[in-house]
Amino acid sequence: MCGIVGYHGHRKPKDIILDGLKTLEYRGYDSAGVAIFDHGQVKRIRAEGKLSKLESQLQSLDFDGRTGIGHTRWATHGTPSERNAHPHTVDGISIVHNGIIENYLEIRDYLLAMGRKISSDTDSELVAHLIAMEVPKTKDLLGAILNIIPKLEGAYSIVVIWDQKADEIVSFKSGPPLILGIGEKEHIIASDIQAIVPYTKNIIYLEDHEIAQIKGQHYTIYNSKGEVLKKPIVEMHWTVDRARKQGYPHFMLKEIYEQPRTVAAVVKPFISLDTETLDFSNLQKNSTIPDLESELQKLERLVIIGCGTSYYAGLTAEYFIEKIAQIPVEVELASEFRYRNPFLPKNTMVLFISQSGETADTVAALRKVKDMGFYTMSLCNVPHSTIDREAHVRMYMNCDAEVGVASTKAFTASIAFLNIFSLYLGKLKNKVNVAAEKSHVRDVMDLPAQMEKALSYADFFKDHAESLKTFKGFLFIGRGVSYPIALEGALKLKEITYLHSEGYAAGEMKHGPIALVDNKMCVIAIAPKDELFEKTISNVEELNARGANIVSLGTGQNEKLKRLSQQGYLALPDAHWSLTPILSVIPLQLMAYHLSNSLGYDVDQPRNLAKSVTVE
Ligand code: F6R
Repeated sequence: MCGIVGYHGHRKPKDIILDGLKTLEYRGYDSAGVAIFDHGQVKRIRAEGKLSKLESQLQSLDFDGRTGIGHTRWATHGTPSERNAHPHTVDGISIVHNGIIENYLEIRDYLLAMGRKISSDTDSELVAHLIAMEVPKTKDLLGAILNIIPKLEGAYSIVVIWDQKADEIVSFKSGPPLILGIGEKEHIIASDIQAIVPYTKNIIYLEDHEIAQIKGQHYTIYNSKGEVLKKPIVEMHWTVDRARKQGYPHFMLKEIYEQPRTVAAVVKPFISLDTETLDFSNLQKNSTIPDLESELQKLERLVIIGCGTSYYAGLTAEYFIEKIAQIPVEVELASEFRYRNPFLPKNTMVLFISQSGETADTVAALRKVKDMGFYTMSLCNVPHSTIDREAHVRMYMNCDAEVGVASTKAFTASIAFLNIFSLYLGKLKNKVNVAAEKSHVRDVMDLPAQMEKALSYADFFKDHAESLKTFKGFLFIGRGVSYPIALEGALKLKEITYLHSEGYAAGEMKHGPIALVDNKMCVIAIAPKDELFEKTISNVEELNARGANIVSLGTGQNEKLKRLSQQGYLALPDAHWSLTPILSVIPLQLMAYHLSNSLGYDVDQPRNLAKSVTVE
């Protein structure tokens, strides 16, 4: 969603803000702007469209001030346009805002009744008016902000400057993230860690209802009563390099190719290489539950909650947790769960999967579960993110920054982690003996090398992109553990190619979707050699008989499947059944990538999408 960068320090804010906004481009936006001090006044420049447009407007401008704020906007209230772009400036108050002010109509009516002139369609400008009406009374920015916070409902993170205070930035939040970077005689406030890591590793995550004030060379954190808070400074270990393309044309392609390494990295801390057994002893350190192991031993039900690709990672894990650990699993969409009256029996724990750790629905579902009195676990990629901070047990995807909007390496890292986690739960429940554990661990250790083979199908999709993109639609089918992979394959394709694609359980074809099939339809069949293979192949035969154009993914040289797959057969290495999803999803990621590229779309920043969905 929108991106925020604010800077005060010894360098020129223009460059820092622009560079910061560039690192946030991946989040999705449709306009951008800055407000920077110059000769004692605040100069505001905004532009609709890509950041390069704003950059060219800024090129010839020099600002002598040392304070400024910038924003990339993803439209919620009002069309994408310069008029609606941030910063919004009212009577010397300039603000940038992420999120949604839910009571904006009420505030708007109030402001109009007070005779205020509103010049945009946004909810954000209204907040600038409220602060502008307050500063003449308080004579200081912090006091004005403390007075107007109770008037705001909704989710927001807001950064404010006042043209009367050239060395001050005040920011506050309730919902979307805000991070304060503390450097040498400089401070950066941003919505995303990536805008900060080039300058400092020392950061403070603002919690809801906290206010950060940067004044001269100092910062202070306050609560909503204006009392000073002592907050710990944490060290962030991401480097700038990790967020660069490293020679790849797109972040998504780089991230697809990183997967053998990231899958190895996510399992490594939990495997003892000498004994080829699991070692989850470190998990207790990341837990506020006093005796985590005995709590997990008592576990009678696991609920997994997430959105989009993270939800599909949960659906995939359901198959192996139920089979290997023999614990009932329920997988829920966060956006549904949060508004239901869910029934959670005793000895239930709830696992939240979120790459960003900031997805608004997942955060809300986590808080709901905690309010219900249940233990929560998180599987996040971004350390110190909201979900990571708030869960009782913190687990990690451990795959460095994921920048491409279409999630790839976070998905395979999640599945790989949950795969060994299911083995660990199975051990705790006495469902897995040592021989089975060792054999499974060896299979997991073989996985990165097998993933390299799956990556070799890049050429197939590069070569076939021209013909594949002409089909009227795409059906992805699979059974068992390959069913969520069909859903994920279809999601990847629609996200970045805008082609119509659907994922289905292969056994569901006859219950409706087969009516779509004719010779203009492409079917992607995910049919590894497992106990459901013969069932899947019957479905493929039926689709073949109705003229579908079939691309299939199977295990080794499977002649039967090959014969049915006029558009191509992709042979995947033989792996443990529960690890095949990690292999089969890779060609589907490559397919989405190469088709999108061949259609000429912006792979890393697909239309209408944002990397981190911090509002509902
Ligand atoms: C799809 C994708 C989204 C995210 C979803 C949840 O490629 O990236 O579907 O998976 O928005 O995001 P996180 O995992 O950050 O909670």
